[in-house]
Amino acid sequence: MTLLQPISMGHAMAGHDFFTEPDLPRPDVSPETARAVAAEHFGVEGTVEEVGSHQERNFVVDAPSGRFLLKVANPAFSDEELDAQVRGMLHLSTTAPEVSVPRPRLGGEGGYVVRFGVDGTVLRARLLSFVPGFPLIDSPHLAPAVVGRLGALAGRVASGLADFRHPGLDRITQWDIRNARRVCETLMPSMTDRGRAGAVRDAVEASCDRLDALSARLRVQAIHGDITDDNVVCDRERNGRPFPSGVIDFGDTGLGWTVGELATTCASVLHHAPERPLALLAAVRAFHRIVPLTDAEIAALWPAIVARSAVLVVSGVHQGRVDPTNAYALRRQEHEWRAFEAATSLPAEVAHAALRDALEPRDTPKRPGRPAPARGPAGTPLLPTVTEAGMTVLDLSAGSEVLREGTWLDGDAERRIAGRMLAAASTATSRASAVICRYGEARLTRTRVHDDRAPTTVALGTEVFCAPGTPVAAPFAGIARQDGPGSVVLRGDGADLRLTGIRLTGVPGGRLAEGDPLGEVAAHPLPAAEPGAAVGSLFVQLCTIRDVEPPAFVTAETAGAWREVCPDPSPLLGLDCAAPGEPTSRNVLDLRRTALAGVQEHYYDDPPRIERGWRQHLSDLDGRTYLDMVNNVASIGHAHPRLTAAAGRQWDLLNTNSRFNYRAVADFARRLADLLPDPLDTVFLVNSGSEAVDLALRLAQTFTRRQDVVCVAEAYHGWTMGSDAISTSVADNPNALATRPPWVHTVLAPNTFRGRFRGEDAGARYVEDARRVIGEAVRSGRPPAAFVCEALYGNAGGVPLPDGYLRGVYEAVREAGGLCVADEVQVGYGRLGHHFWGFEQQGVTPDIVTIAKAMGNGHPLGAVITRRDVAEEFSANGYFFSSAGGSPVSCAVGMTVLDVIEDEGLQENAVTTGGHLRRRLEKLATDHPIIGAVHGMGLYLGVELVRDRDTLEPATEETAAICERMLELGVIVQPTGDHLNVLKIKPPLCLTAESADFFADTLARTLRDGW
Ligand SMILES: Cc1ncc(COP(=O)(O)O)c(C=O)c1O
Repeated sequence: MTLLQPISMGHAMAGHDFFTEPDLPRPDVSPETARAVAAEHFGVEGTVEEVGSHQERNFVVDAPSGRFLLKVANPAFSDEELDAQVRGMLHLSTTAPEVSVPRPRLGGEGGYVVRFGVDGTVLRARLLSFVPGFPLIDSPHLAPAVVGRLGALAGRVASGLADFRHPGLDRITQWDIRNARRVCETLMPSMTDRGRAGAVRDAVEASCDRLDALSARLRVQAIHGDITDDNVVCDRERNGRPFPSGVIDFGDTGLGWTVGELATTCASVLHHAPERPLALLAAVRAFHRIVPLTDAEIAALWPAIVARSAVLVVSGVHQGRVDPTNAYALRRQEHEWRAFEAATSLPAEVAHAALRDALEPRDTPKRPGRPAPARGPAGTPLLPTVTEAGMTVLDLSAGSEVLREGTWLDGDAERRIAGRMLAAASTATSRASAVICRYGEARLTRTRVHDDRAPTTVALGTEVFCAPGTPVAAPFAGIARQDGPGSVVLRGDGADLRLTGIRLTGVPGGRLAEGDPLGEVAAHPLPAAEPGAAVGSLFVQLCTIRDVEPPAFVTAETAGAWREVCPDPSPLLGLDCAAPGEPTSRNVLDLRRTALAGVQEHYYDDPPRIERGWRQHLSDLDGRTYLDMVNNVASIGHAHPRLTAAAGRQWDLLNTNSRFNYRAVADFARRLADLLPDPLDTVFLVNSGSEAVDLALRLAQTFTRRQDVVCVAEAYHGWTMGSDAISTSVADNPNALATRPPWVHTVLAPNTFRGRFRGEDAGARYVEDARRVIGEAVRSGRPPAAFVCEALYGNAGGVPLPDGYLRGVYEAVREAGGLCVADEVQVGYGRLGHHFWGFEQQGVTPDIVTIAKAMGNGHPLGAVITRRDVAEEFSANGYFFSSAGGSPVSCAVGMTVLDVIEDEGLQENAVTTGGHLRRRLEKLATDHPIIGAVHGMGLYLGVELVRDRDTLEPATEETAAICERMLELGVIVQPTGDHLNVLKIKPPLCLTAESADFFADTLARTLRDGW
């Protein structure tokens, strides 16, 4: 039977001491009791449901007056402690009003804490307002902005509590990182997994030693102590991301290190992306902006994160034993272990370097790293038989000239290229020679395609390729030890020298003097690629921290920090073999901002520095390779060798203008004309789509002796006076509709998905609208010279025109004496797969066709193809000339592009791969209501994102955020359409099924895990 008795507040007790009472099973309280307590003590009648807690019992109470949380305290905690928590919440509501925190409710007896008895045991409860929202713990992915907001929230709370004083803060809790060593010692017996226990013990000892050395310099204040992904509540931002806005669960409030508040938050971020522990830097930066950390606090932060993660692991296991029915605690154990592994995946020195870098303003000159250990006093080089003159540096960066034609995709590229260079050198000279790969270089050869993680590309040492058997000597005195097969570590005064790929000649181990032989370079483990070309390779790495085996290659994100402990081994070789410093993507962006017009926009807020392309891939300076889903201009793929060769050959021979008589311009014009149906037989060659559209307008205006043009809404046709005048897309120009010149007449966008007319008769109604506009223009004395339209609605995201639309409108335009222009700049040239030209899909023949983009694969090339009579009429304007339009190089490029499209079956590929991709995307749409429609055909597709499938409210902000997330996962895709809510999918036509799957998988992951 449950007894409910009000009990008066007793005498204040001292705070709880975890070490005298480490086991805190939750008090035994049923939901019925909770319901009765809420009703009788707080006057709140409602339904009750229990929610998880480590050491308390929590119940959500739903009452007509609102939602509350009834917290039944663990009896181990004193009244003072409970009061401190309540006062802490009240304090924060004034010092940090922007942070939502629970509001405590006064009980019937006038206090915030009420007492009641259950079967003779006295328990205490508080009733708090329920802070609405959801926690972050269930969001698998946390965007950098979300991690930053979490850090900012921790900063606001730490700052808001800095002046909070209360005797109940003085307690000894398990969660106060100051107690981490003792907590782990106390609870460690619960860890029966000896491997895990050992790892935790070592990590705690090392971290706590560091913390002890710093503790006198660490600020202590009132902290919440548990601002984690579980204890923040979030709203949903417009872009769909969680927005951490409130903090709950003040049960761990007490005195602690200021930096402990942040460490606790950081530790809770780790399990979301354990492979990227430095993702938590976003939280650190944001916290630091609100509560600037001192040098000592920065030094303490990572050890505190490790200590906190260790405490969580040990406590989780322990709690599981004390309270085996606590499913809440059990579920978290896997997260906790993952976080611990992530925290310990970086040595403390490396993490410290990363934190210092993150918190220093970007313009501060770099601290000089530790001086690299030079050779010993006698100056013995590591490879005594190889002179500086015999060394050649091999550039493996994204900008390397030797990594042509995708050779970097060959897993054995480094050795092959080095082998060839060595073979060439040995025939040129009889001297011993070596090929050196640079220290600190992000090697493109280490990239991975179709991978959602950043690759480990940056070399933390130098690699020497040379003849097997090349002698290796100790460059300084030290103690040598073998470290696995083919690996030796020479421990010198300031650093360990690690050599991998060595064959020992002497007895491994022991003290060596400078110049003593260490061994010889071993043959590369892979069999010789070319006959007689056995190659040895030696990886040379220095490390200034002991007992750490640094990786040979790391991600660009961690490279800066790692380089501080793995200095440049150049002095040991006698050749400067560090990769040259390159401006970062930020530097380049800053320079661009100073020099280039701001309106010449760039993709992404924080774009990678893209420096190489190959087929459907783009690689950045860090050696990360992205799948390119936007470059329709690169129709046959980036860096196509046939195109490079053809352009190079033509540049070598001749490049001039079309007033000269050379064969290429005649051949190319003929070939283009032959691609079009009669009577389209006459070609003008220009340099871009804008020029082509502009010229098409002038042709029509001259031919008809009229000025006016009919175009469709939501269109983009270019930037020149004429092409801009008929560009109506408000995404490209927010004022477009209001600022069209009087000679431009806009008809409704024939969009059957979200346009004014949908369903069966939509096509006819859009034609009717166009007829009306044309009729009005005629009646007002401004009959149209032309109607211009994309034959598949590219700018709107690949939306097909309704059946019969162009036929109907062309008829109306021609009845009014105008010409019909098909803008095929985006959708023509085989991209649609089933048709070479978009207008074919509509069963019409235009009077003028404009093309560009794909025809030059990025080389500036455009064309207008029309009827001879229309072209002839243009002579009324004098002659036509474009300096580079139709130049020999442009024509060679244009011919080669067409050859490749034919020879490689790229139009057919648009049918098969595009069809496959479309099916994958349609399947995705069945699982994710945010996908309103999949538009397009072939390899011109659009995934339209909506907030609601009925209202079709465009998911504009979500689309932008999804594109950012896709970039992080290795895919380049961008929004299009007037609402910027359509993912435009128009990759190089050589896209493979594997690439299409990678895109679909990445989109699926983004939609599932959040962005
Ligand atoms: C349909 C259409 N027409 C014309 C143009 C203008 O082409 P360009 O950028 O080559 O001047 C574009 C460019 O995006 C386009 O999409």
